[in-house]
Amino acid sequence: MSTHIGAAPGEIAPLVLMPGDPLRARWIAETFLDDARCVTEVRGMLGYTGTWRGHRVSVQGSGMGQPSLAIYATELFRDYDVQNIVRVGSAGALSERVAVRDVVIATGACTDSRMNVIRFEGLDYAPVADFALLRAAVEAAEAAELSVGLHVGLVHSSDSFYPARPELVARLAEYGALAVEMEASALYTIAAGLGRRALAVCTVSDHVLTGEETSAEERERTFSDMVGIALSAGTR
Ligand code: ADE
Repeated sequence: MSTHIGAAPGEIAPLVLMPGDPLRARWIAETFLDDARCVTEVRGMLGYTGTWRGHRVSVQGSGMGQPSLAIYATELFRDYDVQNIVRVGSAGALSERVAVRDVVIATGACTDSRMNVIRFEGLDYAPVADFALLRAAVEAAEAAELSVGLHVGLVHSSDSFYPARPELVARLAEYGALAVEMEASALYTIAAGLGRRALAVCTVSDHVLTGEETSAEERERTFSDMVGIALSAGTR
């Protein structure tokens, strides 16, 4: 086991889907995977391994925010030789073009976190998705003929769900950020640094401009679309 993951060596698949919420990890495993087995429950951050269409797949909760995700992503890549992590999460829409329930696939992520300022000593690193995963996800989403909108572009990974300076988030939107979430920047950076692949696919649970939110049932349905995209992309 690693410091925060209780699985034995070999119990985690080369592809990991990573929701923030550990109960979502359980729901994904029970809904999508065959022969799913819980492989870690350290701190209640559940992880499962099973198969999807014959491919071994794991699902691991990340918790909320970049410091928490960074712990799990680092240990999965470094200690379990995971090759691909696809984050499946929620995001708040920042653009008028993006509606609640839509799917956003993150080509890259800006951030207000200090993690990369420290890592790169002030140099302004640009965290981006793995292109092969990105292309596969876009193709899977197009093939799925989703009933909701599909957007591919920049997200903002914020350290604050309740931002102290909302005007700065609005400025990022002026510069093309489609949605705000809390994890993609760290995931992309850690994957790149370890030579692995990562992608973030998000469903829009709320709209920052209008205050609109989705209901719990809607979230479950749109979450299913997103998990299908992530599984197709990760097993290509
Ligand atoms: N995840 C879902 N909605 C969000 C928001 N408004 N801000 C940050 N993360 C989110």
